[in-house]
Amino acid sequence: MKFRAIMGALCAAGLMCGVATAQAAESVEVLHWWTSGGESKAVGVLKDDMQKQGYTWKDFAVAGGAGAAAMTALKTQVISGNAPSAAQIKGPLIQEWASQGVLVNIDSVAGDWKKNLPPEIDKIMHAEGHYVAAPFSVHRVNWLYINKAALDKAGGKVPTTWPEFFAVADKMKAAGIMPIAMGGQPWQDLTLWEDVVLSQGADFYKKALVDLDQKTLTSDKMVQVFDTVRKIQGYFDSGRTGRDWNLATAMVINGKAGMQFMGDWAKGEFANANKKSGSDYVCAAVPSTEKAYTFNVDSFVFFQQKGQKAATPGQLALAKTIMSPEFQEQFSLYKGSIPVRLGVSMDKFDDCAKKSYADEQTAIKSAGYVPSLAHGMAQPDAAAGAISDVVTKFMNSSQDSKSAVAALAKAAKTK
Ligand code: GAL
Repeated sequence: MKFRAIMGALCAAGLMCGVATAQAAESVEVLHWWTSGGESKAVGVLKDDMQKQGYTWKDFAVAGGAGAAAMTALKTQVISGNAPSAAQIKGPLIQEWASQGVLVNIDSVAGDWKKNLPPEIDKIMHAEGHYVAAPFSVHRVNWLYINKAALDKAGGKVPTTWPEFFAVADKMKAAGIMPIAMGGQPWQDLTLWEDVVLSQGADFYKKALVDLDQKTLTSDKMVQVFDTVRKIQGYFDSGRTGRDWNLATAMVINGKAGMQFMGDWAKGEFANANKKSGSDYVCAAVPSTEKAYTFNVDSFVFFQQKGQKAATPGQLALAKTIMSPEFQEQFSLYKGSIPVRLGVSMDKFDDCAKKSYADEQTAIKSAGYVPSLAHGMAQPDAAAGAISDVVTKFMNSSQDSKSAVAALAKAAKTK
């Protein structure tokens, strides 16, 4: 009898199934919110890699940009004792989940991570001295996407200040183009608002949204932030209520609208529609934020399975694959992000990704590298939620800027 046949016979008799067979039996249930065209393509790379390694992928995708619905679904799953193998969790929420004692550590596959991650990101992947999360990529949030044909009709010059931005928006309007494609969900409101906060300077952003400094939160500059947001709103269409971010991106892709404020996951949609940066669309930093960079790093955490404190082979394989150079490259090419792992070649990336990479390096050196509040990197859930409520209320009512600022200062005290 040949070796394979012997092993097969033993295995069928319930004895000595080889490692490969044992792994083949493990399925990994993965909770995430990557459901748009570009997002699905990107997460599909991980699915394929895991299947090639013999694991069964059980997809638990919960639609809804920025993950609010996914986070609600996750809580229900964990409380009912059905925690997934892995879930898309990022920023301070990683430590919040770890403090519940429900995560496993993945130290055994993270031996070389420290030297291959920027220090501020390496820190976020830890809880109590152990790696508990695996990072995918770096998204920059402070981007403005512009349809190239619409820009040409509006004079062809990319706006770098707010007055220039409003001049372009006016010209688009005059040319019969809807100037701004805006979606209608709280996180999209907060994304735009934090862009405008950043346009007052990275230092202002940090004091306001990272330190929650009351003096900064109640300053005249913060009143100006709300005034600018109000002015930008004047260029929205009336159909934005409930609109998903990727539908707003589609409006810029097909020329129905001129511009969109969105993080570079929007670039995944342009790429998925075979649009090229430079000729079909332009990516630019949000006006007056050229030297700053709001970062948003997606990651997976891994939940204890059946009360076992140690990671399963499938969980370790997931973590290892996510940080492998080959995966890092292909995932970001589809996702619109840049690899988080240091030293991955940028040769295959487009101009926008190369700009993101260069701007990231500059921002890190000049203290302009700041965590995104709207994407869960800057504050624990409670404070971020309270601030988000203030912004959403302002953007969906006729509240004046001064009273919004007072509400903001109060919300920032939420623990
Ligand atoms: C962000 C997430 C991105 C992208 C986006 C829209 O919070 O980090 O990966 O998925 O939401 O869904």
